[in-house]
Amino acid sequence: MHLQGKTALITGASRGIGRAIALEFAKHGMQRILLVARDHQRLVEVAAEVAAYGVEAIPIAVDLTAPIDVNIAIAQVWRNYGPIDLLINCAGVAHQSSFLQSRLSDVQEEISTNLVGLYTITRFVARRMVKQRRGAIVNVSSLMGKVAAPTMATYSATKFAILGFTQALRGELAAHNVQVTALLPSLTDTDMVRDLQWFRWVIPMTPQQVAKALVDGLARDSPEILVGWQSHLAVWGNRLAPWLLEKVLRVAAPLAAHPAKRYSELREAAATSR
Ligand SMILES: NC(=O)c1ccc[n+]([C@@H]2O[C@H](COP(=O)([O-])OP(=O)(O)OC[C@H]3O[C@@H](n4cnc5c(N)ncnc54)[C@H](OP(=O)(O)O)[C@@H]3O)[C@@H](O)[C@H]2O)c1
Repeated sequence: MHLQGKTALITGASRGIGRAIALEFAKHGMQRILLVARDHQRLVEVAAEVAAYGVEAIPIAVDLTAPIDVNIAIAQVWRNYGPIDLLINCAGVAHQSSFLQSRLSDVQEEISTNLVGLYTITRFVARRMVKQRRGAIVNVSSLMGKVAAPTMATYSATKFAILGFTQALRGELAAHNVQVTALLPSLTDTDMVRDLQWFRWVIPMTPQQVAKALVDGLARDSPEILVGWQSHLAVWGNRLAPWLLEKVLRVAAPLAAHPAKRYSELREAAATSR
């Protein structure tokens, strides 16, 4: 898919990977980018960064877990800014915990944002894309949607579900000329992982690397876009020797037997040693 002259709506655009995707799209000559998240002030700041590339940027503050608000927002957007060519479902939340200490409220938040929120906006947008007989949808899953790891059981469950949802939708919407793709970043240096405990040996990507991989994957019309060599290694390892990968993950994971430092501590240590 070519990006030039198109209109994209990106959820989770106020920071992290969503913001990086907005900026990368702006560099590739998109005509208009609609930026969705809850924090209006941050969206306004990202809109200013996008507009600096000569691209029209519209901040839309809406909570994806509120279906009526999402419906109203999408109807207004379609009326005021014309059809959306590309929907990027990037908004998400993650909670890390051993399963035995996990809290139902955290699980409910992951499910209502990562799954029901994604479903809600996709339904409103996909129905309109089908009417215009063109469009593309990208669902942001994770490497943890292919390879689940200890301490991330419920987050992994939502990301596995996104892959199943994406595959089914790809089959259903192909007849309507709507393309559906999954993006699978591995650990990426954003607010989401700041308070997570580190998995040994995992080298974080930058949000910019993830955004570039998305643009390359869209140009190749890839149905699933894996980001970085570590992801390819993990997915191949899981196919060829799943028992070995499970052993590696048990050693790498921050379990009670060998607690790891928080990601933010490691980053601060790296910054001071420079
Ligand atoms: N970082 C990683 O290591 C990593 C790895 C693989 C996959 N991913 C996936 O990549 C996506 C982006 O993650 P990130 O690392 O960029 O996280 P992030 O920096 O924490 O950003 C999350 C984004 O989602 C938005 N959001 C959260 N809840 C929302 C809601 N109810 N309604 C609307 N917007 C909401 C946030 O904006 P507001 O708070 O302003 O609403 C923010 O823009 C997620 O789907 C995540 O699962 C991340």
